[in-house]
Amino acid sequence: MTNRSYAEAAQGAAQHSAFQQWQEYISAHAPRPVFYATKMEHLEHAVLTAPAGQVAEFGVDGGHALRMISACRPRQRVWGFDAWHHKGPGLPDRWTGNFDHSRAFTWTKGSFRELKRSMPRNVRLVPGLFDAQVIQKHLGKEPLAVLHIDCDTGASTRTVLDAVVDLIKPGTRVIFDEYCNYPGWREHEHLAWKRFCSTNGIQYHYWGQCHMDVSVEVISR
Ligand SMILES: C[S@@+](CC[C@H](N)C(=O)[O-])C[C@H]1O[C@@H](n2cnc3c(N)ncnc32)[C@H](O)[C@@H]1O
Repeated sequence: MTNRSYAEAAQGAAQHSAFQQWQEYISAHAPRPVFYATKMEHLEHAVLTAPAGQVAEFGVDGGHALRMISACRPRQRVWGFDAWHHKGPGLPDRWTGNFDHSRAFTWTKGSFRELKRSMPRNVRLVPGLFDAQVIQKHLGKEPLAVLHIDCDTGASTRTVLDAVVDLIKPGTRVIFDEYCNYPGWREHEHLAWKRFCSTNGIQYHYWGQCHMDVSVEVISR
């Protein structure tokens, strides 16, 4: 066996184990999430069928998902929060999931300006590392109908959830992009959400799933 094939075999085994762990975990939950063929289909259906209220995405990068979200809600403002050029390459915290992201998500002032210009009219971009005061100032007091969490790490997810705690109501849909099915899934968005719900007395059920992406719907708090 070459070094490369050992590495592939080890990654395959870790991935297989992650699938098994998630299956055991989710099998214990009723109702179980509905499966979608692609993550965009999952996200689109979750946004289109969510109640009235604010829509925000945390972790926008080039805006692939945010453009689709904004097309689902053309008559309202849709928020996008990301650091963009206010940080160096990679994520602000170490990602211990599937792939090395340490050189990804690299932006300059100029490339951010271009992105902003190309966005649909109903999108508002808020650049900068997530900060509770900034998030609360922009979102105000209207409850969130849709919260798309695509900032990968547990630390960033915790910052976002704590900042929007007062806007989460029964009916709020939260769609997580990296919730499960990768080695280390219990450490990131999943852990942040479980702790947040237990601290704030939030009840929810699993709503949808594709691969690593999972959505939940808040039932009560
Ligand atoms: C996977 S990308 C988002 C992909 C995007 N939703 C799409 O549709 O292509 C993750 C993003 O989260 C952002 N991010 C992660 N933690 C952050 C933090 N603490 N503050 C600001 N941005 C953060 C990164 O800058 C990165 O652009």
